Amino acid sequence: MCGIIGITGRDDAVDGIVAGLQRLEYRGYDSAGIVVGGQELAYLKRAGKLSNLTAALEDEPTAGRIGIGHTRWATHGAPNDVNAHPHLDPSGRVAVVHNGIIENYQALRASLGDDVTFASETDTEVAAHLVARELAAQTTPDLLAAVRTVVAQLEGAFSLCFVAVDDPDTIVVAKHEAPLIVAHADGVGYCASDVAALIAHTRDVAALLDGQIARITPEGYEVVDVDGNAVEPHRYSVDWDLDAAEKQGYDHFMLKEIHEQPQAVADTLRDRLADGRLHLDELRSDEGEIARIDKVFILACGTSLHSGMVTKLAIEHWAGIPVEVEVASEFRYRDPILSEHTLVIAISQSGETSDTIAAANHARDQRAPVIALVNVVGSTLAREADGVLYTHAGPEVAVASTKAFTTQIVGGLLLGLYLAQQRGRMYSSEIGDILQRLQRIPAALEQVLELDPQVANLAERYQDAPYTMFIGRHTGLPIAYEGALKLKEISYLHAEAFPAGEMKHGPIALIEEGSLVVALAPAGHVFGKMVSNIQEVRARGAAVLAIGTEGSVSDLKAHADHVLTLPEAPHELAGPVLSVVPLQLFSYHVATARGEDVDQPRNLAKTVTVE
Ligand code: G6P
Repeated sequence: MCGIIGITGRDDAVDGIVAGLQRLEYRGYDSAGIVVGGQELAYLKRAGKLSNLTAALEDEPTAGRIGIGHTRWATHGAPNDVNAHPHLDPSGRVAVVHNGIIENYQALRASLGDDVTFASETDTEVAAHLVARELAAQTTPDLLAAVRTVVAQLEGAFSLCFVAVDDPDTIVVAKHEAPLIVAHADGVGYCASDVAALIAHTRDVAALLDGQIARITPEGYEVVDVDGNAVEPHRYSVDWDLDAAEKQGYDHFMLKEIHEQPQAVADTLRDRLADGRLHLDELRSDEGEIARIDKVFILACGTSLHSGMVTKLAIEHWAGIPVEVEVASEFRYRDPILSEHTLVIAISQSGETSDTIAAANHARDQRAPVIALVNVVGSTLAREADGVLYTHAGPEVAVASTKAFTTQIVGGLLLGLYLAQQRGRMYSSEIGDILQRLQRIPAALEQVLELDPQVANLAERYQDAPYTMFIGRHTGLPIAYEGALKLKEISYLHAEAFPAGEMKHGPIALIEEGSLVVALAPAGHVFGKMVSNIQEVRARGAAVLAIGTEGSVSDLKAHADHVLTLPEAPHELAGPVLSVVPLQLFSYHVATARGEDVDQPRNLAKTVTVE
């Protein structure tokens, strides 16, 4: 979390930094700050959203050809002005912005002696003090050398970005387990946490790898390791443009991204079939290796975890391999039994979630091959995995994930079919037929989006429901979890999900007159069971909103207060791609009706690069 941007070599560097911070604000919005470099460092920082900083910049115009900016998701120290980044050393000669956590900051602070005072409570500030001390000890100031020496002393996960008066045109950045990209275009040097911040300037970027440090000047950038040896970052080009990162007339990014799902899913499915076989070329997989897989672990966090639950159903059904789905932050701290025959699928929109990256590393340490199912091209997970399947959803900006989720499900279906194909479990013709049917999802999604006015009415009616229970079975269960998560994330209403069959073992005690239950009851082999579970909660006074499918809704209408009707899914396992959409819209409309900040919900950040 936290977003970093740096620009050197442009007269309007401040405008560029502010524009970049706007695109990085999804990474955290507890405070924002900027420092302009050159012969002296001028900084401005404000608690709260970026708009507080931009208002302050209007009162105190700041200009310069070099600067760095930051948007914060607080870890150490309250989200106030003082703890906002940038942080400077006491002489004001070095400034730093930081994403991540410096775990040994207390020991480092102590090493500077009792007479050194710190302005903030952050773990970050010590890095500015240490670099300033190094620079002061040099005969010829060299910011890169100073940062190298300091970075060697740091523990934790961080990307750091420095400017210093002693090296006035230079930005130096260091990366260790938190993302950082660098770029150079038209005589300007850039760095940022995410390509979204730079897309207005260039599509050609380089992602630093762990342990790399870069010096960025208007002439270009050089990348070295901690010993100063020249090293290569991961260079790549981005295949989307500025338009994709704008709201394009929608009130919120979340709404825009919900409506982009037909296109996103079409892109995920595109060009997968050739010569009658499913091709997932990015997987770089070995057929023999796939044949020997005897177990799959799916590791992810948040919304991505819920897509993994659908992927489990697909792999077990089609490929016949046992699958476990696990929260990445739990997996990494236990002793899972893996071998080179265990396939790990790490699912992540950003490819930068620390817990997921660490869990994948934990698996790799035990020789398990790792496939990354990710959206962001060139991200850490994508680079480090043995194989990658991109979801091609395009940039997702809203904190609440929508199109990344549906494309992950589609990616998971592709993986299930691919494993079945490579293990000879299904005929090519069967796989081809399913793939053909999956091509109908985008049109079906368009139809689901037409439910929007109906969902908006329901949201208005239930906007104050103090507690909403989501229930489902089989493919409906991951969607129940996702529906509850969406509602919590952006409307701050209490919502929980349960397997519908578990209700009778406890949760049904919570039901009373007027409780709202959202029941996932699409057509499928558990439909009848769902109808029974709906009757059980209704008999106890719950108001039921059911999600059903054309053809079977007449049965539902007799038992539910409201029914939202989905078109028939092209395959039962693809049903979740459709059934989640009304729940995304429901949470969106509840949140807007309650006046909440849909795109930037409190306490959350889109990309979580801390543990
Ligand atoms: C954060 C976001 C969620 C997201 C989760 C995992 O918590 O707020 O929307 O699902 O991280 O992110 P990833 O990028 O790994 O999918």
